[in-house]
Amino acid sequence: MMVNLTIDNKEIQAEEGSTILKAAQSNGIEIPTLCYHDELTASGACRLCSVEIKKGKRTRIVTSCIYQVEEGLTVTTHSERVMNVRSLILQLLMARCPTSEVIRELADEMDVKPQERFQLDEDKGKCILCRQCVEVCEQVVGVSAIGFLNRGADKSVGTPFMEPSGVCIGCGACAYVCPTGHIEMRESETGDERSIWGKTFEMVACKECGRYFAAQDQLEYISKKTGVPLDKLYTCVDCR
Ligand code: SF4
Ligand code: FES
Repeated sequence: MMVNLTIDNKEIQAEEGSTILKAAQSNGIEIPTLCYHDELTASGACRLCSVEIKKGKRTRIVTSCIYQVEEGLTVTTHSERVMNVRSLILQLLMARCPTSEVIRELADEMDVKPQERFQLDEDKGKCILCRQCVEVCEQVVGVSAIGFLNRGADKSVGTPFMEPSGVCIGCGACAYVCPTGHIEMRESETGDERSIWGKTFEMVACKECGRYFAAQDQLEYISKKTGVPLDKLYTCVDCR
């Protein structure tokens, strides 16, 4: 069933159950996002995608990557109130992750400066606890090598007990989806080794072009899961 709503004065129709963010994107209306990934369950962690909605006489700020479209809804994506909320969110994100270049770039784009009153004494790295890395590892790769550790203010993401994981296959999907660059994945100079989550993986060079393209453990895992002979996986996507 289709739902009628207005986003930035544009009358649009969206599939019932879809989010304001998706409806806006498919109508060429831009809403900034940080932790959202199309293929993963939205966590609503960063709240940068906040928009203002009006239902009857009531207006309020909602997280557009989670909030579902409703019949007759009026959405404003860049009102003064929205911009103030986003600016505050960015200041808080900068205070939480002062070393994240992605967050700093977003703040620069919106002309938001860090505020001393929000600065934390302790550097907690670049993680915003959005869970996208855990989700991709669990749901897409199917490995569950990482999860959340501790609670409250000490909550962080990592392998159990922060020890090298016995199940991690070194695919790097977590580092790829991490919006803030918190997960460090290093390749050796020649590309024959990759390190992530405290573990070093041997990389495989493509049989055809010689480029190192995947971790040996990752290819073994794919072979086991799909039944494709390991030997067939030793060619990179470009050469297949
Ligand atoms: S490490 Fe990155 S992807 Fe994982 S929870 Fe933190 S910010 Fe999100
Ligand atoms: S992009 Fe919607 S909460 Fe992060």
